[in-house]
Amino acid sequence: MEFEGKVAVITGAGMGMGKAIAIAFAEEGASIVVVDVNIDTGQETVKAIQSKGGRAIFIQADVSNALDVQQIAVGTVNAFERIDILVNNAGIQHYGSVVETTEEEWDQVLGVNLKSIFLCSKYCIPEIQKQGNGSVINIASVQGIASQKRVCPYSASKGGAISLTRNMAIDFAADNIRVNCVCPGSIDTPLLRAAAELTSNSQQTIKEWADAHVLKRVGQPEEVAQVVLFLAGDKASFVTGAAYVVDGGLIAQL
Ligand SMILES: NC(=O)c1ccc[n+]([C@@H]2O[C@H](COP(=O)([O-])OP(=O)(O)OC[C@H]3O[C@@H](n4cnc5c(N)ncnc54)[C@H](O)[C@@H]3O)[C@@H](O)[C@H]2O)c1
Repeated sequence: MEFEGKVAVITGAGMGMGKAIAIAFAEEGASIVVVDVNIDTGQETVKAIQSKGGRAIFIQADVSNALDVQQIAVGTVNAFERIDILVNNAGIQHYGSVVETTEEEWDQVLGVNLKSIFLCSKYCIPEIQKQGNGSVINIASVQGIASQKRVCPYSASKGGAISLTRNMAIDFAADNIRVNCVCPGSIDTPLLRAAAELTSNSQQTIKEWADAHVLKRVGQPEEVAQVVLFLAGDKASFVTGAAYVVDGGLIAQL
């Protein structure tokens, strides 16, 4: 039980990668704060953890809203008295070039994908500092390193997440708080399937995305979760400011 006695806050944990990360931490003994804007799916994750004997609570929050995010920190400390690990996972996708994207769409994507990391870190890190050590993991994307057609706000938000990770790693190293990010390739989540549904043949589209990876498949949320747990744990004690690519070789090839 690597994370027994630790408290992990995971945003966007109602489904997809966040849910897998929450369950994986719970299986290693952590108490989990499931944060999501969606009440139903958030509570399902809590039930899934509790049904296996784990500890979890749900806090509904829009992670792009400062008042909501302040309540994440307050609610976590009220329930579990501490915060050790913060996983900034919540994110949304939007397709469009800079010409096609509206100002509202830009603000929404940057708000949920990037401002949320600023807000959640701003209000949770003071609690982590009280513990004398801890870890923050931001879920970025390979689209923060390379790009493709019509992903303007998403790509910008994920590039920002990688840069912000480096800055936070420097700012909080003296507090023994390591800050890293993970850059997944295509992972089989509701977000990926919703993106595929925008095309005329979603199954064919997912197959084409799979073929673009060196490993010729899309990843599973649990495969990302294991890297997040590694980064949060003592085995990664000399890892900070890093961007871990978890992409089945997607950006390894020209
Ligand atoms: N799936 C992929 O292929 C992929 C690849 C690279 C990076 N990512 C990133 O991984 C993270 C998780 O993606 P996923 O595929 O699991 O997505 P998903 O859509 O399957 O799940 C995202 C979760 O975040 C929640 N959420 C959305 N907006 C929110 C908000 N404003 N406040 C709180 N919660 C909110 C949703 O309700 C949902 O439960 C995102 O940051 C995404 O950009 C995904």
